[in-house]
Amino acid sequence: MKLLVLCLGLILVCAHEEGNDVVRRNFDVSKISGYWYSVLLASDVREKIEENGSMRVFVNHIEVLSNSSLFFNMHIKVDGKCTELALLSDKTEKDGDYSVEYDGYNVFRIVETDYTDYIIFHLVNFNEKDSFQLIELYAREPDTSEEVKKNFVEYCQKHGIVKENIFDLTEVGKFGYFWFSLPKFPCY
Ligand SMILES: *[C@@H]1O[C@H](CO)[C@@H](O)[C@H](O)[C@H]1NC(C)=O
Ligand SMILES: *[C@@H]1O[C@H](CO)[C@@H](O)[C@H](O)[C@H]1NC(C)=O
Repeated sequence: MKLLVLCLGLILVCAHEEGNDVVRRNFDVSKISGYWYSVLLASDVREKIEENGSMRVFVNHIEVLSNSSLFFNMHIKVDGKCTELALLSDKTEKDGDYSVEYDGYNVFRIVETDYTDYIIFHLVNFNEKDSFQLIELYAREPDTSEEVKKNFVEYCQKHGIVKENIFDLTEVGKFGYFWFSLPKFPCY
């Protein structure tokens, strides 16, 4: 009996690991819904993601609507106060692309995900004057593996974003989680 339980356990472990395959195309978007944490945030315009920057946003929850639009529940600090930010993004004509109005017009896509641990988004913002990039790493837990983070940094560099423009949000996050002990309302 003990052996049987052990075998079942091993099968479950293996089955679970198989489910963690990284996907880079043909996403099953319904699987990205649920709670996420912002882990790394990168941009080629640093001010946008520095303190008080319009793009220094922290994800809380993603909902996939029945018409395939994505509803993002996020937080941002405005005048030092934690403020909820709800963004609705619709699919564009281009397969895999979503658009959202926020500090200009934005187009984004999923770069890669394994659904159960992390997801990477690549966004381009177009405003009156010019455009900039924003690349985000979200995880299901407040932090994720060094390997995933290393790959993210490499992806950013490949797209012209230097290391100095990549922010680790897990440290700022810990402070919020610790002091307010409200795991799903982090305000950094
Ligand atoms: C999708 O549904 C949401 C919620 O009902 C709505 O606000 C949004 O405009 C819809 N998007 C499209 C492209 O129809
Ligand atoms: C951000 O805004 C707050 C409140 O307006 C201000 O006290 C703080 O100095 C600002 N931080 C930076 C880096 O500009």
